[in-house]
Amino acid sequence: MKTKIWTVENSDKLSTSYPHLSQAAALLKENEVVAFPTETVYGLGANACSDVAVKKIFEAKGRPSDNPLIVHIASVDKLEEIVSHIPNSAYKLIESFWPGPLTLVLEKQDKTLSTFVTAGLDTVAVRMPDHPVALEIISRSEVPIAAPSANRSGKPSPTQASHVYHDLNGRIAGIVDGGSTGVGVESTVVDCTSDIPTILRPGGITKEQLEAVIGQVEVDKALVDEEQAPKSPGMKYTHYAPNAPVIVVQGDDAFFQDVIKQHEQEGRKVGVLATKEGKTVLKANKIIECGSRSDLHTVARDLYDVLRAFDQEDVDLILSESFPQDGVGEAVMNRLLKAAGNQVISQKK
Ligand code: TXA
Ligand code: MG
Repeated sequence: MKTKIWTVENSDKLSTSYPHLSQAAALLKENEVVAFPTETVYGLGANACSDVAVKKIFEAKGRPSDNPLIVHIASVDKLEEIVSHIPNSAYKLIESFWPGPLTLVLEKQDKTLSTFVTAGLDTVAVRMPDHPVALEIISRSEVPIAAPSANRSGKPSPTQASHVYHDLNGRIAGIVDGGSTGVGVESTVVDCTSDIPTILRPGGITKEQLEAVIGQVEVDKALVDEEQAPKSPGMKYTHYAPNAPVIVVQGDDAFFQDVIKQHEQEGRKVGVLATKEGKTVLKANKIIECGSRSDLHTVARDLYDVLRAFDQEDVDLILSESFPQDGVGEAVMNRLLKAAGNQVISQKK
């Protein structure tokens, strides 16, 4: 399959790119799959009401069929066609955070969506992305759009069109290139069907932000205890992994340097994922900069690009800085630890 590529130079001037976006939306209507930017990561979209279309997403990504997809909408009134009940907490969250990086899990309507979207669950995950290109494509397609991250299953999510091209060229109908995404980690997934809303996946909207709007919010036990089965099926799979193994290093810069030295002495080519601050003090064969300690949003923004960049380098092992697990640091550490398969080296106190 030849993958069409459309470039949207400046999303503030969408009118000039209308022909592109109409072509992309037309392909979605014809039950083809098209990748497009959202504010978090690139999504791989397809008509959420069509079995044929949704199956193509799973095929292109190599995604396990028991992992449900997020349905993307461009206006809140579409929500009522998809879900059967909207609790008060959900209304409040929608008012505060949509469009934005927040996905709500709600009870689904029986008939509207392809059953492949929800992988047999009674619930459906829905979000309204905060990106002009995504909103334009979804509203022009006139259907709800199922869209997982547009990477091959297991790989880091794409934050640039080139990442999508690398993973999926020839496997999908088109890619809309709208430049780099901003947030860099995926949306926060919140289950609103439980009495107390529960975070199933940390992401672009923090627990603190959610609690400021609806009060108490729980965190799925599986996020803190490896033994527990996650309520979000996708959280159980290996994810975000570059080719070389990743180890997260918890400790100060001197400890990190010792760990690097030890691995180098054992003959390994070590790659280091370090912040701007870390890069000024650490010494290693290859260091790739990932944001700044002073603002973890910059680490979130750069994380997947840096993990992918290591695949272009001759390294045997990637040692990564560790980050405080609050605010967006929660999502950053969740993704890093998954990339590392939970391998951590900690400094003894
Ligand atoms: O930011 C994002 O959310 C991106 C962009 C493209 O919108 N999308 C994304 O989709 O990250 P994906 O498929 O890579 O991740 C969806 C997550 C998975 O962990 C999946 O298991 C979970 O949402 N999920 C989907 N439907 C669910 C449901 N009904 N109940 C619980 N978890 C669900
Ligand atoms: Mg994904």
